[in-house]
Amino acid sequence: MIMYLNGVYVPDTEAKISVLDRGFIFGDGLYEVWRAIEGRFFEPARHQARFENGLRALKISQPDDTKAAQIRAIADRLFAENSLQAGEATLYLQVTRGVASRTHHFPAQGTKPTVMMMARVFTPSEARCRTGGSAITVPDIRWHRSNIKSVQLLPNVLANEQAHQADALEALFVRDGLLTEGTHSNLFGVIDGVLRTHPANDFVLPGITREVVLEVAESIGVPRAEKAIGIDELARVDELFVCGTTMDVTPIIRVDGAPVAGGSPGPITNALYEGLLARLYSRQEVAKT
Ligand SMILES: Cc1ncc(COP(=O)(O)O)c(C=O)c1O
Repeated sequence: MIMYLNGVYVPDTEAKISVLDRGFIFGDGLYEVWRAIEGRFFEPARHQARFENGLRALKISQPDDTKAAQIRAIADRLFAENSLQAGEATLYLQVTRGVASRTHHFPAQGTKPTVMMMARVFTPSEARCRTGGSAITVPDIRWHRSNIKSVQLLPNVLANEQAHQADALEALFVRDGLLTEGTHSNLFGVIDGVLRTHPANDFVLPGITREVVLEVAESIGVPRAEKAIGIDELARVDELFVCGTTMDVTPIIRVDGAPVAGGSPGPITNALYEGLLARLYSRQEVAKT
């Protein structure tokens, strides 16, 4: 695979960074993931805005090669180099605070952030979105700034491995009795005919798919509330699903071994999945930046 690292295109086997990189030492960095369909990004402006908000939150000054136009150009080259212009792909971007001698406080002004991008083939799992799968619940032991797409993903990794071991698709975090989100997805449920999801505050990532799902819900007249689902409400949830750039809308039909409602995907979930597909694969709406 040909990757982009600090201004050069190199095979992944030759893409090297210093062991003093603050991403390696402290997990001091951010990432972003774009979905691309035949080379066209889905919702590029929203991904760019979230990434730039994260840079500001972490006080990393924006490297020139991470401006929207440059990312577009680098992605085009990576898609070409890796034969990804047809079909689907993801573009992964990671920026760290750069290489410096190890001090907890920020290094001297002018330390160059590390910038890495890679493009990989992506195969959406339509069958999984039609049939759904299981989830487990885990305590949300993450920090209080889960809205930042930081590379510090250890709690997410541990929780997702726990789900994997339990043959579940996703682990759902629970904080103070409320379901927040999945390890790499946002969570939605339908209770009393109302589509519910955690508000986009510091405790969840403001998912781009989450925003699109809320827009689709509005367009088809589904009542919605940005109000977290309590763990004690799970027993009376009529539908449950997770969503994300690589999950699309995936129904959750069992939680901690107990079936959700009838144990099969519900009509609102299915309608939202269809609406998301229409947005994803409509050429007009997946305009290039
Ligand atoms: C913790 C978390 N929540 C939600 C999401 C979904 O966000 P998006 O729809 O922007 O992919 C992700 C995506 O990776 C995530 O890591």
